[in-house]
Order: sequence, then C-alpha cells, then structure tokens
Amino acid sequence: MNYRHAFHAGNFADCFKHALLIWLLRALQRKPAGMMMLDTHAGIGRYDLESGPAARTGEARAGIFRLLEQPHPALADYRGVVQTLGLYPGSPVIARHLLRRQDRLVCCELHPEDAEALRGCFFRDKQVSVHERDGYAAVGGLLPPAERRGLVLFDPPYEAADEFYRLTDALTLAHRRFPGGVLAAWYPVKHRAPVRAFHNALRDAGIKDMLAAELWLREPLDASRLNGCGLLVINPPFKFETEVPPLLDALLTGLGDGEHGEGIALLRLADE
Ligand SMILES: C[S@@+](CC[C@H](N)C(=O)[O-])C[C@H]1O[C@@H](n2cnc3c(N)ncnc32)[C@H](O)[C@@H]1O
Repeated sequence: MNYRHAFHAGNFADCFKHALLIWLLRALQRKPAGMMMLDTHAGIGRYDLESGPAARTGEARAGIFRLLEQPHPALADYRGVVQTLGLYPGSPVIARHLLRRQDRLVCCELHPEDAEALRGCFFRDKQVSVHERDGYAAVGGLLPPAERRGLVLFDPPYEAADEFYRLTDALTLAHRRFPGGVLAAWYPVKHRAPVRAFHNALRDAGIKDMLAAELWLREPLDASRLNGCGLLVINPPFKFETEVPPLLDALLTGLGDGEHGEGIALLRLADE
C-alpha cells in the first residue's frame, strides 16, 4: 500500500468526485427517511493543501484552487461545502457535513495510519464509525444497511493491476446484497480500453440501471497519465441525467486547459 491520498488531495479528480458525491447525497436526502453512506476507501478525511505532501505535488493548483478562483454558479454548492469546512475535506468529511440527524456514515480505511487520522476527525461522533479494514471485504458484512436506503462510494487507489477486477466483484456483490442502494465507483481514465472492459464486465454481470459520468482533460491516449476520470453509478437517483451534465460542463470549464480531445460524457451503460 504505497498510495497516500495526501499527495493528490484537491486535484481535478477529487473535485469531480466530490462535486458528484454532494449531488448524490442531496438527491438521497430529498426523502426524509434516514440513510447510510458507506465510504469503502475513505482516506484521512482532511488535507492541508498549503504544506506537506499536497503542497509538494501542487496538484490542487490545477484543481480546487482554480474552482475557488473562478466561481461557476453550477458549482456553488460544492464550493460552499469546501469553503465552510476550512481544511480541505475528503469524501468522509464532506459526507459527515451533509448528514442529517437520521443519517449515518460508515468508513473503511485499510492503511493503519490513515485510519487513525480519520478516527481523529470523528472522535465521539455517534453518527460515524471508522473501520480499519478492507473496504471490499466489508461489503459482505455491512450491506444491506438497516435503513435500507443509502449510498456506497468506492474510491480505490488503483495501484494494483487487478483493481478494476476487484472493484467489479465488489460492486456485483454490493448490488446483490443491497439491490436498491445507490452504488458509485470512481475510476481513472488513462486510456479507454480498461474502462470499456470494466463497463462491459458489469453489464455482463446483469446489472441494470447503470450510468457513468466522465470528464477528460485531453484525449485519453497516453496510458501513463491521468487524462480523465469517471464515476459509475448504479441506481442513479432521479434527475441524475438532467442535473449532472451542467455540473460536468462547469467542471470542464473550470479545470480544462483547452487541450485537444478534452470533454465530458454521460453514458447510459444499462437501462432500468
Ligand atoms: C483515493 S484514496 C480515498 C480518498 C477519499 N475517498 C476522498 O475522496 O477523500 C484511497 C484510499 O484507500 C485506502 N485503501 C487502499 N486499499 C484499501 C482497501 N482495500 N480497503 C480500504 N481502504 C483502502 C488508501 O489507503 C487510501 O487512503
């Protein structure tokens, strides 16, 4: 486990993922009944972008710092959440901020130091639990939630060659155990072939009602670079197909440099 999210916090991929995460949580909260969010690969929760690993890579300069400088109305909600929370928030801290009294958050983080740091964010918080364990394996035990409503976010580091396969198996299992749950998985777009294979594998598993939102900063041809990223969503909430494209447009306006082949897409991978 070499991946440490602190080096990448606030980069364009984080902005994409977190803006869509906020949309998904707000969509689930249109109904008053409580819900559970499971964050299978949670990270440390808060990141200092001004010093340490994030400052060394400077990835946030092409990410959240740009979005904060050029306020686009479609991203006002996302920007507001980031500004309210101060130290740059990762997915569990964003989710915690949005929880209502009837909701709860469950986090898994396998790296012992990162899990410890994450626990520190939620000390004595009764609505949040942090497990130092494999987020994929946790799917079997933690789903379905008692609330029978919720969101599972898979955000693995993709440092292992078989990450797409493990993710496919975990999504398939999560869908079997929690058929009505909203399941979201972030993925890198380096080049297209592995992404197509991932989508096809889930289709072949018989999963219905599946969409993917994607953003590329350039044509995904050089497999050694993170050219773009996507979020696959199973059981997307109502209005995903109409309300998410303006978010993608705004993200590209804010984060793109006009490189050849940049773009966005909302793909329907399987019908309802
Ligand atoms: C991309 S980062 C997560 C970022 C976080 N979701 C956010 O948006 O702020 C991936 C995290 O997964 C952790 N990790 C790696 N393998 C894991 C596994 N099998 N189960 C749970 N966590 C894992 C890494 O230590 C890392 O902190």
